[in-house]
Amino acid sequence: MSTQTNSGSRPAYPREFPKGFYWGSATAAYQVEGAWNEDGKGPSIWDTYAHTPGKIKNGDTGDVANDHYHRYKDDVALMKRDIGANAYRFSISWPRIFPRGTGQANPKGLDFYERLVDELLKAEIAPFATLYHWDLPQALQDRGGWQSRETAQAFGDYAGYVAEKLSDRVRHFFTINEFRSFVDMGYHGKEVPIPGGMMNISLAPGLKLAAGELNQVRHHAVLAHGMAVQAIRARGKRETKVGPAEVIECSVPLIEAPEHIEAAQRATREANAPFLTVMLEGKYTETYLEDAGADAPKFTDEELRIIGSPLDFVGINVYRPITYVLASDQARGWREIPFAKAHPTMFNHWLTVSPEVMYWAPKLVQSLWNAKELYITENGCASDDVPTPDGKIYDTDRIMFLRACLAELQRATAEGVPVMGYFHWSTMDNLEWANGFGDRFGLVRVDFKTQQRVPKLSASLFRECAVGNHVA
Ligand code: NOJ
Repeated sequence: MSTQTNSGSRPAYPREFPKGFYWGSATAAYQVEGAWNEDGKGPSIWDTYAHTPGKIKNGDTGDVANDHYHRYKDDVALMKRDIGANAYRFSISWPRIFPRGTGQANPKGLDFYERLVDELLKAEIAPFATLYHWDLPQALQDRGGWQSRETAQAFGDYAGYVAEKLSDRVRHFFTINEFRSFVDMGYHGKEVPIPGGMMNISLAPGLKLAAGELNQVRHHAVLAHGMAVQAIRARGKRETKVGPAEVIECSVPLIEAPEHIEAAQRATREANAPFLTVMLEGKYTETYLEDAGADAPKFTDEELRIIGSPLDFVGINVYRPITYVLASDQARGWREIPFAKAHPTMFNHWLTVSPEVMYWAPKLVQSLWNAKELYITENGCASDDVPTPDGKIYDTDRIMFLRACLAELQRATAEGVPVMGYFHWSTMDNLEWANGFGDRFGLVRVDFKTQQRVPKLSASLFRECAVGNHVA
């Protein structure tokens, strides 16, 4: 088939996505909203962390951030006009809804999300709401945070309340964003492999728990997810769909041959044992429990049943492989191949350029767990995005990264992997947690002094892909 139209001026894209594909961008409450203490909102662990000197680069905070709380109408208009999105993934701030985590709800907090959702629907942008993107109410942290099983129960109650109020307009809910990141980086600090070494990342609340305690926190996080799934089913409208948004630790076969693919599949199942694997299988793998030994989490069969509650879809954040693998005759059947020292990375050293993960991550979720619906809930990269004298941002690096990732995703959908949508991280530059405002992940540049928004060239690429439903 020819890839050129008759006029020759424009390729006739064969790289199409399935009909009805969702093209969206994503943000999270603490990273964009600001208004940290307005309209009855309670403090979250991120307010506390950011207000503690030395925790966030340059003393940045989310007190104002993108002021999205007040500028949401303009931001929705921008998603429509400049990004061409038909979906938006945002998160709901738990302490806006329940300022103390449980108890009396705060109607003004809910009101903000009602207005945001109405604005999105008016613009024909489908709202996808994440219920937890790391901003735990400080009041719950003071009562033990995720170390306490009560936090899981409180999360279930909060999720049920939100579903009851919003599911007449919000069809898709994600329970928790990146279980692994907020647990491992927040409750211990995590060593992340980068070409030629490791780097350590820490997040709020900035604890350093022992191995057994950390496994118990992981268990409470997946239990909270299961409780939320059940509460949403009980209190939301019947058509409501729910699933997690987990950062999958995907092992990518370095060579695409059956034995290496098989090795990648096994490695991926084990790497995700405390999170995706237990949510999708309703049990911890034997290897995980054996390796943890006396530090294994304490759990009951009933809790496993809750954790394994049936899902409507699986959301995965996909940035890079956790490792490359090859088959091996070692006991577990695979061998990890570290990134070569000169392996290219994006602006962030943890972000190795490995777009094939965008094919393998959904493919392995489908083959391992027979997932019937999948979403790419995040993918993207930061850059320095310096404006040129004409005031524009020619982010060639992001364009290369985005197009390469989309091409691999399209390879998966063309083979029948049921990916229903793609959310780019992020709609606009925002507070990149402990790295502050320096890591710009947006399709739209934000001047944090003036709050001026300027679409980058990558927004034009995204728009072209979204409107045409293909890789442009
Ligand atoms: C993961 C997180 O969900 C999001 O909050 C973060 O900003 C991006 N990835 C980029 O690191």
